[in-house]
Amino acid sequence: MTDMGEAKAIIESLRVEVNRHNHLYHVLDSPEISDADYDGLIKQLRRLEEEHPQLITPDSPTQRVGAAPVEALGIVEHKLPLLSLGNAFSGGELTAWYNRIIKLADGQEPDFVCEHKIDGLAVSLTYIDGKLTIGATRGDGFRGENITRNLRTIRSVPLSVPKTAPSRFEVRGEVFLPIDGFKKLNRERADEGLPLFANPRNAAAGSVRQLDQRITAGRPLDIYIYMLGYAEDKAIPSSHWETLEYLKSLGFKVNPNNRLFGNIKQVEKYYDDWLEEREGLPYEADGIVVKVNEMKLQEKLRDIGHEPRWAIAYKFPAVQGNTVLKEIKISVGRTGTMNPYAVLEPVSVGGVTIKHAALHNEDDIRRKDIREGDTVIIQRAGDVIPQVVGPVLSKRPKDAKEFSLYKKLDGKCPECRFDIFKPEGEVMYYCPNAACPAQRQQRIEHFASRGAMDIRGIGEKMSAILSREGLAGDFADLYSLKREELLNLDRMEEKSVDNLLDAIDRSKKRPLARFIYALGIRHVGEETAELLAKHFNSIDGLAEALKGELISIGTIGSKIADSIIAFFQNEENKRIIEKLETAEVLTKIEGAKTGELPLEGKEFVVTGRLDSISRQEAEARIKALGGSAKSDVTRKTDYLVVGAEPGSKLARARSMGIMQISESELLRIIKESGD
Ligand code: IVH
Repeated sequence: MTDMGEAKAIIESLRVEVNRHNHLYHVLDSPEISDADYDGLIKQLRRLEEEHPQLITPDSPTQRVGAAPVEALGIVEHKLPLLSLGNAFSGGELTAWYNRIIKLADGQEPDFVCEHKIDGLAVSLTYIDGKLTIGATRGDGFRGENITRNLRTIRSVPLSVPKTAPSRFEVRGEVFLPIDGFKKLNRERADEGLPLFANPRNAAAGSVRQLDQRITAGRPLDIYIYMLGYAEDKAIPSSHWETLEYLKSLGFKVNPNNRLFGNIKQVEKYYDDWLEEREGLPYEADGIVVKVNEMKLQEKLRDIGHEPRWAIAYKFPAVQGNTVLKEIKISVGRTGTMNPYAVLEPVSVGGVTIKHAALHNEDDIRRKDIREGDTVIIQRAGDVIPQVVGPVLSKRPKDAKEFSLYKKLDGKCPECRFDIFKPEGEVMYYCPNAACPAQRQQRIEHFASRGAMDIRGIGEKMSAILSREGLAGDFADLYSLKREELLNLDRMEEKSVDNLLDAIDRSKKRPLARFIYALGIRHVGEETAELLAKHFNSIDGLAEALKGELISIGTIGSKIADSIIAFFQNEENKRIIEKLETAEVLTKIEGAKTGELPLEGKEFVVTGRLDSISRQEAEARIKALGGSAKSDVTRKTDYLVVGAEPGSKLARARSMGIMQISESELLRIIKESGD
């Protein structure tokens, strides 16, 4: 027990702190601490107040539900207060809640309804004579903001209900932004240079509490209704589960993941199952809500303070946490990118110790204003790499300086000391040195990776060993590794060496698309590699491609085309490809006709619009048959394909006596050539 004077001082400072965070969260939609830390503060304050009840004042944040509403939207007085929920942070706390209920239920095991606790914004919808009349936020529980116009823009909010509905009633639910929508919104905001939302809940709140409802309308918000507030002149169902069914029948959207259970064991299982599965949900859930099903028992359990005793939020362990960002370090990527990442004071987030987090790029660091020495909010989401959400400004050290990647590195690649550079219009800095050891090693790793040549046994570690020991300067060297060399390596037994050599050998027959992807050409991902393989059928064809031809293929743009051309012009790369060919790695599509193709050596030029086939496709077919497609008529042109509204090429071809064929003749040639 803390002594009285001391307790008073701590309570007062805690209240100031909590009130400030309430304001940041509810009014400004920009929290500085994670939910878990906020819950921690409240818990601490509650405990002290419980120990010293004489110190409880009506204005203590423990006595309120939220923060004051924003006046500008207009105020709505709630007919019945919107309560908040008590929390259970552990199985033990759930059991304690359950035991209290059992006592009041005369020892009888009640039925429970389990629902997801969606992390969004609580709203109240009032329907009068079948029409949505008032939509409001929870506000402080008694008075909320009038957001009727905004809520009307959400498609899953019914604007009217069947005549059979009570003449006046209120439902409550959670408005939320699905994770996909949240990511998309933040991507758009990043593109526009706007500050990003920290999480889907802030984004939902920020979207709904807008004076201009057109902004709300542009955001993919959704709602799940989770209870009936009150209803006039109609008997309502006698259990929560039936009420939800009834609300569904009136057209409200009710979460299909809700379940009715007969005992607390099943409730625990529901929690455990969703704890595992929650990252696959389309929305963010921070726990489950357990509700006593029978209304009679609910009434008997009444409310204490602002929390009903008949329901509880059983929280999932936090996936956010705060810690100190010790340093921003830079790793060198495969293509030479300078990738900043955060080195953190280790912190446990949702049961996992986090020491590093992604920081994407310098622009992002600046946009979020993250500085070395800052206390930062860390978030672990569905993706494995934890993110730095943003800094806690109030805890910023006085001497924290804005981050500059260039300054941090003194303008030099941390691995090979070459001068780094930033291409115009890009956000990343690059190391220009293709021989940079970090890049070499990662190119080998990439070459052998799953979607590429898929060589089992060559991952991060093995690539590092092979390049460090000088056994593989580049990935083509993998095909000339010797048994004895490998046996000399630490912990390499005969069997593992044989397996490795076998895996390397088998990789020689991977499809062309994978091979192209494996080369690690900047901006060429798996999809682009697929397009290139289909179009060119061989590495030699791709290596000779001109820019115009490249950008005529599917989604390939100027940036990718330049990168491909630069790759094949590079002397070192040419040597690597020769080595690969000598090692008999497959560099063309097997079965694609090479050598004696029917249109071998024939040059085609297309003019005008083709009707039954796109020009791109026509050119691709010609090439697949060994012909070439050029853009200008020259003496070497064999055929001019004349489409609708031909251009000046037709006159030119005529004057040079070049053979002209129609679209249908072209198609016939293609067909007869056995395409
Ligand atoms: S029931 C008296 N059910 O959690 C019961 N609340 O602090 C009141 N929430 O602000 C709430 N999902 O916005 C309930 N399935 C659910 C919920 C849910 C999310 C939110 C609600 C409220 C907070 C409780």
